[in-house]
Amino acid sequence: MTTQPAKPAWPRTLQMSHVREHHAEFVNRVEKAAMANQTRPLTRESIVTLREITAETARAIMFLDVAPHQDGLVAPNAVSMAQAHFAPLAWMRAIYADEAPVGFLMLEDSTLVASNTTPDLHNGERYIYLWRFMVDARYQQLGYGAQAISAAIAYARTRPGVKCMLLSFVPAEQNPEPFYARFGFVRTGEIDDGEVVMALAL
Ligand SMILES: CC(C)(COP(=O)(O)OP(=O)(O)OC[C@H]1O[C@@H](n2cnc3c(N)ncnc32)[C@H](O)[C@@H]1OP(=O)(O)O)[C@@H](O)C(=O)NCCC(=O)NCCS
Repeated sequence: MTTQPAKPAWPRTLQMSHVREHHAEFVNRVEKAAMANQTRPLTRESIVTLREITAETARAIMFLDVAPHQDGLVAPNAVSMAQAHFAPLAWMRAIYADEAPVGFLMLEDSTLVASNTTPDLHNGERYIYLWRFMVDARYQQLGYGAQAISAAIAYARTRPGVKCMLLSFVPAEQNPEPFYARFGFVRTGEIDDGEVVMALAL
């Protein structure tokens, strides 16, 4: 990893808040359809699962969005989902609370391509990278992010030869460092593309 200048934030027109503002009726229709199977209110007791995204659910996952003050901390989901289709090492999942889509998580997992016998290493060790992670603003502070990251860590522990999990965050106000610290992630001292790198030994 090299030290580089900070990258620019994702443009406002790519944020779902922009789409929501300009196409509210369309967004409402998609969200209503996405919640059709959720028959009771979401609570802290809702069961959190990581699910594959399907043709039926993709639109709803794209419309999940962070709060306005969190813009720039993570790429819009539509961008992440498009990138994943060109990245053989991408492992993306929707975060569900009960039957409702509430967030998005994407890992870079070098073990997904068996022929990749010379993966990038971190301090000589094979790693999984938390590439994207968000919980929609309406569903934050309900414990869903904590359950989702725990599930991602559990997945990482099952991957052959993987010794650590890495992530990086934009060092803006409201950054999620304290959240990650709760799970044992610690700063490595590296800055990657303007983002602060943290690692968790698995
Ligand atoms: C980070 C994020 C995924 C956490 O999701 P969440 O569902 O709100 O998290 P939880 O409700 O599971 O939070 C668990 C605990 O961590 C705390 N926490 C959550 N986000 C935090 C933050 N940004 N800073 C400090 N503490 C935080 C919560 O207050 C909660 O504490 P409690 O158990 O004492 O109530 C969510 O805030 C988010 O999407 N942020 C914007 C995008 C982002 O920064 N993504 C990470 C890119 S690297």
